[in-house]
Amino acid sequence: MRVEDLVYFCAPSRLIIGAGTRAQLPELLQHLGYRTGLLVTDIYFTTHMPWVSKYVEAARARGVETLVYDGGMADPTTTLCDAATADVRRRLGGRQLDHIIALGGGSSIDLAKALCLTLPAGRPIGDFVVAIDSATAVLPLIALPTTAGTGSEATPGAILVDPDNATKVAVMDNRLRPGIALIDPEFTYSCPPRVTADAGIDALTHAIESFLTLDSAQFNRGGHPDPGYSGRNALTMLFARESIRLCARYLLRAYQDGKDTEARVGMCYASLYAALSYGSAGLNAVHGIAYGVAGITHKSHGSTNAVVLPYVLDALQHERAAELLEIARMFGIEETDEAEAIARLPHVIRAMVEAVGIPGDLASFGIPESQLVALTADALAVTRLAEAFPVADVSSRYSSIIRGAWRGEFSSSFCPSQAAAGGALRAV
Ligand SMILES: NC(=O)c1ccc[n+]([C@@H]2O[C@H](COP(=O)([O-])OP(=O)(O)OC[C@H]3O[C@@H](n4cnc5c(N)ncnc54)[C@H](O)[C@@H]3O)[C@@H](O)[C@H]2O)c1
Repeated sequence: MRVEDLVYFCAPSRLIIGAGTRAQLPELLQHLGYRTGLLVTDIYFTTHMPWVSKYVEAARARGVETLVYDGGMADPTTTLCDAATADVRRRLGGRQLDHIIALGGGSSIDLAKALCLTLPAGRPIGDFVVAIDSATAVLPLIALPTTAGTGSEATPGAILVDPDNATKVAVMDNRLRPGIALIDPEFTYSCPPRVTADAGIDALTHAIESFLTLDSAQFNRGGHPDPGYSGRNALTMLFARESIRLCARYLLRAYQDGKDTEARVGMCYASLYAALSYGSAGLNAVHGIAYGVAGITHKSHGSTNAVVLPYVLDALQHERAAELLEIARMFGIEETDEAEAIARLPHVIRAMVEAVGIPGDLASFGIPESQLVALTADALAVTRLAEAFPVADVSSRYSSIIRGAWRGEFSSSFCPSQAAAGGALRAV
């Protein structure tokens, strides 16, 4: 509890978590009175896994008819969403849906969220990018994540790529939060190492960024009666703390051995807890800069976050010293000198990023030096994220983070080679 907090917390009304829980879904949906649904997924799940056909049959046996759309793709575009809207409405032939199920990673969940808006009236998704008015009908969503990372099963946003200018646009409203998030860790067991790593780092970034973000008491909600994101508070920090602890324990294990079921389950909780934090507190510089990096490199969401994260930690050593020390301890950093422990954290996080096969600096990641000024401007243009970065001069801090990240340099004087040599850690 913190006296000054202004808590606005929003989450799915039902969380179902556990290995094999997917088998309960048909009975639950029958019990809730649903009769006609759409299942949104991608072709991997209709061709490589038995889950879709098994679900459709089991649901039919309980009086719930389900149309399957398996045209989902990684990083869905607004064009894909509009084409899917037309395709599904044609196949429905006038029948009305009463729910949508998303089965997949963040990409399929986000596409399904967008379809919850577009399908009832057949409108283009572009109509909802600025705001969603109160009269808009929004279909109820049931999210079944198959990666452990994005937490989209608990957040109010759908992120889509606008192909006209290659940027990501967010469609955001608490009515888009899935009403049911069913997290069956068995869905994630087939994730290849690359997907596991990118998603895992995404969860860690969500947890850390929301743990460090602007306080709810200082957050400008703009008078919104139902804000999606509204700054950190003691409740969101509770979830963030536990998520960071789980990532420290399980992220590398899940990447190194996909059959490590304890690590897989641990990362499912880490991802959900991170979403229960950032899904109300919000995010800031890592995602803001990562969106710009993705615009230039077109690399995965998780990897663009990963390359930026260590440098944002380095930049917050003064404003968020106590929180960074807590995180350092969770990552097993034991220096008794607190400043040393805090200074070491970015090095440890970067080593983890590199250990999962992601470059540790923006130059190696494919960003030319000539793009740094434009990258800084693009990152600052995502004002909802820039305004939540808890520093006085956001513009100059973004600029120094990006320059440091490009060169692979930290501001701190900690020397990692001493740690590697096993000697006592000393500031140099
Ligand atoms: N709405 C939100 O709150 C939010 C938050 C973070 C990220 N995102 C979005 O999520 C997307 C990234 O999602 P992601 O990291 O989950 O990856 P993804 O959904 O893009 O999937 C990546 C690939 O992994 C495959 N895959 C997924 N689950 C699998 C499994 N169990 N076994 C084998 N293959 C599997 C998919 O078929 C796909 O080819 C980005 O578009 C990002 O913008 C949204």
